[in-house]
Amino acid sequence: MSKSSENSATAWYDSPLYYDMVYADYTPKETRFIEGIIKKHGPKLDGPMRVFEPACGSGRLLESLSVRGHVVHGFDLNRHQVAFAKDRLKAKGLKGRVWRDRLQDFKVPKAARYDVAHCFVSTFKYIDTEAGAVRSLRRMAKALRPGGLLMLGLHLTDYKHTPPDHERWIGRKPGIRVVSDTWSAPANRKSRTEAMRTRMRITESGVTRTEETLWNFRTYSPREIRALLARVPSLELVVCHDFHYDLASTRKLDLEYSDVILVLRRN
Ligand SMILES: C[S@@+](CC[C@H](N)C(=O)[O-])C[C@H]1O[C@@H](n2cnc3c(N)ncnc32)[C@H](O)[C@@H]1O
Repeated sequence: MSKSSENSATAWYDSPLYYDMVYADYTPKETRFIEGIIKKHGPKLDGPMRVFEPACGSGRLLESLSVRGHVVHGFDLNRHQVAFAKDRLKAKGLKGRVWRDRLQDFKVPKAARYDVAHCFVSTFKYIDTEAGAVRSLRRMAKALRPGGLLMLGLHLTDYKHTPPDHERWIGRKPGIRVVSDTWSAPANRKSRTEAMRTRMRITESGVTRTEETLWNFRTYSPREIRALLARVPSLELVVCHDFHYDLASTRKLDLEYSDVILVLRRN
């Protein structure tokens, strides 16, 4: 990983505990979804499933999958998230490998061949160039065994209709409450960017403070994602789902529904 790779896009992840609280409700659904998808579309497993999470954040999914007996590896750019993820596995006596790396040029341990890789909640959109996205997908494909699956969850853009958007997520723990608001500005078709702002209001021991981060996501219309996939022929699109993580309901890769999970198979 190059030294200059850390950027402000990861600043709001400097507080892994708060981030973790905000996303915690989704963890059980996503865990079941990953297991269900591999059973349905993945290679036959002879032992524990070997799972890889590029940009693993706080390690919430590393932990939930490790608890269920799977082998977990993951990396993240943000050193606070990496430390948090390592500590949480250690605290529970779980095995797993976590390291600091970057989506665009990461390396996996020698001889690692994963059954499944996943990158949810639009994390892939942090890669700010097409060349970086191609490199990242090629590396993800290479890290998989033949027949292994990559799941990419991302919000797609309809350039004809991109009103400003707002999402609120709330996390609670005894003595702490976190309200996370994320706003996105209308997408810019020419620069392929979507300006984002996240504000976290943290109330701890009765005191409230606010942390705010600004960054850009790279945008993808269905056509642009297809064009990207065409540059990585080692991955073929198997099926699409949505952010409800419902195995019984599939989606098309079009604009009818914008929050999609692409299930890609390494051929
Ligand atoms: C929305 S979180 C998702 C984390 C985790 N996959 C999950 O589902 O909880 C996005 C993560 O991507 C990381 N990140 C952002 N840009 C990155 C990059 N270029 N390379 C590696 N990690 C990156 C951030 O530090 C953050 O932990």
